[in-house]
Amino acid sequence: MKKILITGGAGYIASHTNIELLKADFEVVLVDNFSNSCAESMKRVEELSSRKVKFYEVDLMDSEALDKVFIEEKNIDSVIHFAALKAVGDSVKNPLAYYSNNITGSLNLYQAMKNHGVKKIVFSSSATVYGDPETNPVTESTPVQATNPYGHTKAMMEQILIDTAHADDWDIAILRYFNPVGAHESGRIGEDPSYPNNLLPFVSQVAAGVREKVVVFGDDWDTPDGTGVRDYIHVVDLAKAHAKSIEKLAVSKGVHIYNIGTGRGYSVLEMIKAFEDACGHTIAYEVGPRRNGDIAEVTGNPMKAEAELGWKAELGLKPMVESAWKWQSSNPKGYK
Ligand code: NAD
Ligand code: WQD
Repeated sequence: MKKILITGGAGYIASHTNIELLKADFEVVLVDNFSNSCAESMKRVEELSSRKVKFYEVDLMDSEALDKVFIEEKNIDSVIHFAALKAVGDSVKNPLAYYSNNITGSLNLYQAMKNHGVKKIVFSSSATVYGDPETNPVTESTPVQATNPYGHTKAMMEQILIDTAHADDWDIAILRYFNPVGAHESGRIGEDPSYPNNLLPFVSQVAAGVREKVVVFGDDWDTPDGTGVRDYIHVVDLAKAHAKSIEKLAVSKGVHIYNIGTGRGYSVLEMIKAFEDACGHTIAYEVGPRRNGDIAEVTGNPMKAEAELGWKAELGLKPMVESAWKWQSSNPKGYK
């Protein structure tokens, strides 16, 4: 059974990925500092998969503690590196915190891997590295031109990995996620933000009566209905892309970069309408000003992932919003 080390292992995307990896008979070892998660998600992963997971409460900033994990866990086959701070607005206000956590944390991880001869890694990158692209959908060769500190950290972490892969013969998969949404079909695990920075968690909380109304950030964009268009991807489809990437690295050497999206965009108003259908009542919203730094549209061409990973998004808008609503309505306080 191959052993996979998962950083940020208690987080939103990791929880869903852990289920897929356990299903595919991998062994998972999780590392997290709980800066944006809690232990309950891991308990529920164990419950859903009827498997045990091994966990270390370690901060990637603590290089000694991290090194000890590699000493204790012999034979780590590959790493999936989710751990990062991820709120764009917060990164503009606190750039040093983002550069420090995301870059230093990653350097510590890559150094520990090097120390212990682990040379395979799947990295969580983001469509944010494309900034405001000239044309959509973007391909993996669309220029990288991030526009905020969070995005810069992702572009830098990609580059550090690519340089290391070339120097030390590492095999790496860089997955550029578009907009992950939704939850496991059981409703037991899902996204549990302390404050919802993204559209769908905000809409869910309005649907549940936790918040009064959604503010639509502008309806004068150059899009069909004037509201922002994004490529939403079901988190379970995204999770499966990680299992496929681990399989790919077992047989294919070098650097691989993939867009992980559906190739299809939806507007803010289309998302709200779909959520209304899922929850069975109207969702209050008003149109407000544009959000600083926002863009009209970004969607990703996923053909390379389909051709090389044998991965394709299978779940459409309906299961995205229905699973998000099932998670929200059955866990009104998240994991608490
Ligand atoms: P998340 O916050 O739920 O998960 C990240 C996890 O990393 C959290 O559990 C957090 O506690 C942990 N962590 C952060 N810094 C750490 C450190 N120094 N040491 C140990 N653990 C640490 O976020 P998520 O949505 O699951 O995102 C996972 C990854 O995917 C991140 O790298 C994020 O940048 C990337 N990503 C997310 C999205 C999105 O919209 N959710 C989109 C594109 C890319
Ligand atoms: C989606 C659409 C908003 C909230 C961000 C990061 C990106 C990635 C995913 C990590 C836009 C509109 C939103 C609201 C609204 N994360 N909106 N009212 O901005 O595409 O991407 O998350 O890597 O890096 O930038 O996602 O969900 O914030 O916004 O009208 O209350 O919803 O303007 O058009 P975004 P989002």
